[in-house]
Amino acid sequence: MVNLVIDGKKIQAKEGITLLEAARENGIDIPTLCSHESLEPSGACRLCSVEVTKGNRSKIVTSCIYTVEEGIKVNTESERVKKVRKLIMELLLARNPDSDVIIELAEKLGVKPQKRFLPDHDKGKCILCRLCIKTCETIVGVSAIGFSSRGATKIVGTPFDEESDVCIGCGACAYVCPTGHIQMETTGDTRTIWGRTFKMTACNVCGRYFAPEDQLKYISQKTGVPLKELSTCTSCR
Ligand code: SF4
Ligand code: FES
Repeated sequence: MVNLVIDGKKIQAKEGITLLEAARENGIDIPTLCSHESLEPSGACRLCSVEVTKGNRSKIVTSCIYTVEEGIKVNTESERVKKVRKLIMELLLARNPDSDVIIELAEKLGVKPQKRFLPDHDKGKCILCRLCIKTCETIVGVSAIGFSSRGATKIVGTPFDEESDVCIGCGACAYVCPTGHIQMETTGDTRTIWGRTFKMTACNVCGRYFAPEDQLKYISQKTGVPLKELSTCTSCR
């Protein structure tokens, strides 16, 4: 175990966990946007910045990446942290002015859009955190999406922005996206995502459309469970 202090509170944390995890375990709230408990942190948004003091030196670190260290003092609400967090939030508001999640978070943190940062309405709500790409790659295992282009024009999507033939329409990318960038529409027996429309399967007990046919076929292939056995929704199993 590692001994450290967060916001004046002496705590013990398991070696190797992050400052964010240690803070949360102890009821200390740090604002986050791109961290997800099922995925490796990417440190993309920096909203979780905190101040770490070791001896006479202090620095701002990204708490979802920085691991706990013996004897450090962490401040999640110092003036320096507040200043950094405010600037990060102002930049996020300018980059993603149409994201309700970002607007609400900014309001919660008392941050308003600044005239010096011009709002960019062209990039949608994406903060380039990679959560969707990692989910598709490591959890679903199909790698249907990725980043295209570089620098200021970098954007997430299917290769060449065309209909993906490996996408199974599961929607995991849309569920994990912290800003609501990914458009997914499920109406009746169809679901549309990434420009492709999938046929949904109706539960063989209650008749409710619950999963795309391609997703169930994929699970059946991967697990060897017959497709028929997968055609019952979770509520009726
Ligand atoms: S679409 Fe959402 S999850 Fe994917 S990189 Fe952008 S913000 Fe992150
Ligand atoms: S939550 Fe830590 S960098 Fe985004």
